[in-house]
Amino acid sequence: MRIDIITVLPELLRSPFEHSILKRAQNKGLVEVNLIDLRDYGLGKHKQVDDYAFGGGAGMVMMIEPIANCINKLKAERSYDEIIYMTPDGETFNQQTANSLSLLKHIIILSGHYKGVDERIREHFITKEISIGDYVLSGGELPAAVVSDAIIRLIPGVLNDETSALTDSFQDNLLAPPVYTRPAEYNGWKIPDILLSGHEKNIDKWRHEKAVERTTKRRPDLLK
Ligand code: ADE
Repeated sequence: MRIDIITVLPELLRSPFEHSILKRAQNKGLVEVNLIDLRDYGLGKHKQVDDYAFGGGAGMVMMIEPIANCINKLKAERSYDEIIYMTPDGETFNQQTANSLSLLKHIIILSGHYKGVDERIREHFITKEISIGDYVLSGGELPAAVVSDAIIRLIPGVLNDETSALTDSFQDNLLAPPVYTRPAEYNGWKIPDILLSGHEKNIDKWRHEKAVERTTKRRPDLLK
């Protein structure tokens, strides 16, 4: 899979891809992540990428030309399955969307900034608009990292058995059950006896019950 992220702040995005699972996924050749500096497509000697909004109002708007030139260049090199725009008014991201995006070959993620992008970009280039939640961040970079992380860890071969995505919260519409590690007793606080029983079947049953119990209590909407 190849993920091209268009941003005015590539430095802000670099670190999440240089550690742990995301780094390993790239080193294994399972995903290629390219951070593309929109400034390289900026206009004039100041490499301008934003301008005042027509009709007035506070805040700058990202211009159509740099983004169009950037996307057109990428599209001339390969075909893309989705061109995603990160925006608080997009569809809310969830595990199901992560699952389907993880099956794609080439995607572009455009990180918005300022007051947003010229609407014509959304009309003519963007195929999917994603929000990571009902709150407004100062740019689309952190959302792009969140979405990329959720996608990449689902690519076959990225996680090993121990960290299998199949046991994640949400993967089966259930929150994950509680987990414990050594010591078995701390400060008089004991772990559930069943986890020391060595009886795999009963442990699986206990975990499932705890997952259902936790989901019922915290996220009953998931059980519908
Ligand atoms: N840009 C700013 N806030 C955002 C959000 N909540 N989701 C996606 N992109 C954003």
